[in-house]
Amino acid sequence: MSALLEVSGVSVSFDGFRAINNLSFSIGPAELRAVIGPNGAGKTTFMDIVTGKTRPDEGSVTWGERSISLLKLSEAAIARVGVGRKFQRPTVFEDQTVAENLVLALKSKRGPVAALLYALSAQGRDRVLELAQEVGLADHLPRKAGELSHGQKQWLEIAMLLAQEPRLLLVDEPAAGMTLAEREHTTAMLVEMARTRAVVVVEHDMDFVRRLNCKVTVLHEGSVLAEGTLDHVTRDPAVIEVYLGRG
Ligand SMILES: Nc1ncnc2c1ncn2[C@@H]1O[C@H](COP(=O)(O)OP(=O)(O)OP(=O)(O)O)[C@@H](O)[C@H]1O
Ligand SMILES: [Mg+2]
Repeated sequence: MSALLEVSGVSVSFDGFRAINNLSFSIGPAELRAVIGPNGAGKTTFMDIVTGKTRPDEGSVTWGERSISLLKLSEAAIARVGVGRKFQRPTVFEDQTVAENLVLALKSKRGPVAALLYALSAQGRDRVLELAQEVGLADHLPRKAGELSHGQKQWLEIAMLLAQEPRLLLVDEPAAGMTLAEREHTTAMLVEMARTRAVVVVEHDMDFVRRLNCKVTVLHEGSVLAEGTLDHVTRDPAVIEVYLGRG
């Protein structure tokens, strides 16, 4: 099976400091991957490179069946080919209902008039409901987004990203600030999403990573330190030394 995203030999320095150092990473079209590693390991910078926010000094980032280079595309173009990114703080429209937020997310894909007509059509209403169901918010469609819990806002934002139909979803520390029940729901949701698309999850919460039950990539000083099952990487002495053993 060929990779959806292939990052190869990528490095980037900020003021002489090598934040990413000869990093290689690849993920298949329907794969869930956890990325872990100590603070400053380069996890967020890795996502910045894939989404075009940061340009590497060397290396390649290729995408899809035709292996196009993402390094030649703008951030907007990278989003259009199918890379979606979830940032840590939710950016939903608090004064709008859950349903309205989802309609707005569908709109940015279609243009304003087409989206409005689509949202009013039976097909559009079905799509809004379907998106809400994917993240467990189907019973909350008429509520103002501002009334949702922190976790529910995160799920709404994930549903808004799904409206763009990404083939790869990058999620940075989704569990932060969530209750245990919310974290459990989030892992189940990410597992389900990765059945049909690639999902990369950066997370420090080891219980969360364990529940994802997927291949794990450990980053350290901008490079891959270890890769494999969680049991495999957590037994690795180098991983224990730099990450798990720190207290
Ligand atoms: N735009 C930038 N300018 C200068 N330095 C940067 C920039 N972005 C990241 N860095 C540095 O690169 C290193 C990697 O940072 P990054 O945010 O990718 O780490 P991280 O693995 O996401 O850490 P955390 O777990 O704390 O979120 C850090 O030392 C950081 O200070
Ligand atoms: Mg980070």
